[in-house]
Amino acid sequence: MLNDCSIIEQERLNAQSAAIVEMIGGSTCLAPLHSLTALTKAVDVGCGTGVATIQIAKALPSTKVYGLDISPVTEVVRRMAPPNAAWAVGNVLDVDFDQPGQDNDIMSHEIFTPDGLGYIFGRMLFLGINNWQRYFSNTHVSLQPGGMIEHQDLDWKFYRVGTSECLSDGWEWHRKIVRAAEQSGLSTRAGSQAAPLMKAAGLEIVSVQTFEFSFVPSSKTPNSEAMGRYVQTKLVPQYPELLRKMLGSQGVAGEELEKLTKECLRDISSEEGVHQKYTVTIARKP
Ligand SMILES: C[S@@+](CC[C@H](N)C(=O)[O-])C[C@H]1O[C@@H](n2cnc3c(N)ncnc32)[C@H](O)[C@@H]1O
Repeated sequence: MLNDCSIIEQERLNAQSAAIVEMIGGSTCLAPLHSLTALTKAVDVGCGTGVATIQIAKALPSTKVYGLDISPVTEVVRRMAPPNAAWAVGNVLDVDFDQPGQDNDIMSHEIFTPDGLGYIFGRMLFLGINNWQRYFSNTHVSLQPGGMIEHQDLDWKFYRVGTSECLSDGWEWHRKIVRAAEQSGLSTRAGSQAAPLMKAAGLEIVSVQTFEFSFVPSSKTPNSEAMGRYVQTKLVPQYPELLRKMLGSQGVAGEELEKLTKECLRDISSEEGVHQKYTVTIARKP
């Protein structure tokens, strides 16, 4: 049974997914999936509620599409998924081709086998992956030649609508969050750094596209308006807890935490169209 907290989190992730799809033009994936031949096996890494896994499985009815996450997807989702969707629980960073683990470990024995996957999808993993080199190296090994990886993720800076004019460089709370993230091995440039890391892992970049992940809706970026509404109603209320956790790891608490939280809530809603950059990177295994 899900408790109230998990139901709210599931609803938040589904609302976020819908806003992302609208922001990037109406599709879950931007990779040219129908150009991929012999696409028998695909994976949605860090599938969360399984919403994208189901959309990909419906788009590719002849492909077995795995949804992999550290936490299991709910029974309800499993029941409504198409028959070509399958589910696995595991940390993708635990994939080790030299020591594939127990025979019942679906992640190592079925999903991530050398040259086995036709398509790897991963979205919004920036708070979960603390070793991107390892991640892209493992995905490179497990893609079949010609297979594609699509990575969709965020950078942590904030910009003015329609520009690359950075607003967050002078924000004290932001500097502290970036330091906290970096100290725990997380990347604050999980979107823009994907392409160079993929290249270094031996993948060939097919395309890089950037979108405005708005924190406040603006009519100047119509595709990101739904995102702005989602952020205001569902994401901003989570920020105080996110700050408490991340700044807490830096020893920030009490009045200082209260002050930084207030400044953060002011800054992230300070003007229409204030946004983070969301990057969709598609690469191919040569
Ligand atoms: C922000 S959610 C995004 C969910 C989904 N990709 C989406 O866009 O709707 C991140 C998800 O990635 C999962 N995750 C994070 N790190 C992971 C890892 N190393 N291996 C597998 N799953 C991971 C988390 O459990 C969480 O469900």
